[in-house]
Parts: sequence; structure tokens; C-alpha cells
Amino acid sequence: MDEGKGKRGSGVFHEENSSLVEVKHFIYPKYCKSIEDELLNAGIKELLSEGKVKINDVMVIGKGKSGIVAMMDNERVVKIRRTDSPKPSMEQECSYQRNAFPVSPKVFSCGKNFIVMQRINGYMFPRKPSVEEVKLALIAARNLELLHVQHKEIARPWKNVMIDKDRAFILDYDSATFKPSPNNVSKILSSFKETRELSIKYSKREIDFNKLLELINLYF
Ligand SMILES: Nc1ncnc2c1ncn2[C@@H]1O[C@H](COP(=O)(O)OP(=O)(O)O)[C@@H](O)[C@H]1O
Ligand SMILES: [Mg+2]
Repeated sequence: MDEGKGKRGSGVFHEENSSLVEVKHFIYPKYCKSIEDELLNAGIKELLSEGKVKINDVMVIGKGKSGIVAMMDNERVVKIRRTDSPKPSMEQECSYQRNAFPVSPKVFSCGKNFIVMQRINGYMFPRKPSVEEVKLALIAARNLELLHVQHKEIARPWKNVMIDKDRAFILDYDSATFKPSPNNVSKILSSFKETRELSIKYSKREIDFNKLLELINLYF
């Protein structure tokens, strides 16, 4: 086989590992040289074409409105800023994500156009969660409040919460802010019809967090 040619014969795939692809293929929706240069300078030359979402001619594990998330290896993923993202830089997102650790995936490095972070090897919070899954998300949301981080996109937990074994991680600090008294817990509760009343009670401080975890058993 010709050097550099892989299974698809496109020159994209390397022979020794057919799913390692040059990073330029992960720039989406339009190629951008300054993003490629920043990634190459950070030593991010190739990524794994892996996951359920197809972009360009490669596979990735996530695609949102501001970034695409691709596998670097088993432990790390990189979120690359979409060229049509409403935000011109990911540096602020990176800084909130660092502040949100360990509720957030750990950040290893970041730049204007990327965040290298811990891969969460779990599953997205389901649309119809079990009581245990709801409790894990509420505990994560509560821990985020203790760090004074308001998430702002937590009202749809199936978009930004991942479950890995016995804990939940909150992703995507794109719209996060600092607040003295954040309300991430009430936001999650208000996302389910069943717990809207409970959410109001909790935000009025008629019940505390431990009581809430007890009562939640009655709703799911
Ligand atoms: N650390 C991670 N580990 C595993 N999957 C992730 C991780 N971060 C993000 N994802 C996946 O990528 C998707 C998009 O990431 P997200 O940060 O929400 O991007 P956006 O800001 O564009 O919405 C998530 O919904 C999730 O499925
Ligand atoms: Mg998102």
C-alpha cells in the first residue's frame, strides 16, 4: 500500500492505526488555518475518528452549538471551537470549567480554540431517568453551587449531564457565571413536570437538600 494511504485510500488514515486522522479534518463546519495552527502548536496533530456523530469525513463523540468533541485517546477528549460558534474564544469557558472541577471533567490544557479534558466514559443523562440518576445529577448540581458556579444550561440535563457509574459530571461551561447563591439544583428539578412543585419548595428553602434527596424517591 502507498505510504500514508489507509483503508479508504484517501490519504487521511495512517496504516498502523486506521482511525488516527490529521487534526485538520476535525475543524467544523469550515476549515480554518488559525485553528489548525493553534492545535498543531499545542501538539494536537492527530485525533481518533471515533464516536456516533459524523462531521466532515470523520467520527466524533459530540457535537454541540459551540464545539465538537473528539477522542484523543482512552483518557482524553478535545473540544474544538466550531468555526460558526457564537463565542470568539473558549478561554472563558475553560476558566469556568477549571473552577467547576471535580463536578466538571478535568481540564488538562486549553487555548482560544480548544479544551483538552478528561474523557467521561459514561452515558448522557437519559430523557426518562431513574431516581438514582436524578439523585446523582442533583448531587453534582449541589456541588457546583458550593463552588459558586451557576451553569445556566442545566435546565435540560439530558444535554449537559453525563453519568459514569456512581456519579454525574456536568459538562459545557460555555454560559457559566459565578454567583453567590446559584440555583442549579432548582433548575434540574424544574426540568421535570413531576418535580416542579418540589423545585419551588426547595428554592423557597422550605426543605433542605437532604430532605429533597429523601422526597425525590416519591417522584420517579
Ligand atoms: N469530557 C467529555 N467526555 C465525553 N463526552 C463529552 C465530554 N465533553 C463533551 N462530551 C460530549 O460532547 C457533547 C458536546 O459537548 P458540549 O460541551 O456540550 O458542546 P457545546 O458547547 O457545543 O454544546 C456533549 O453533549 C457530550 O455528549
Ligand atoms: Mg452543550
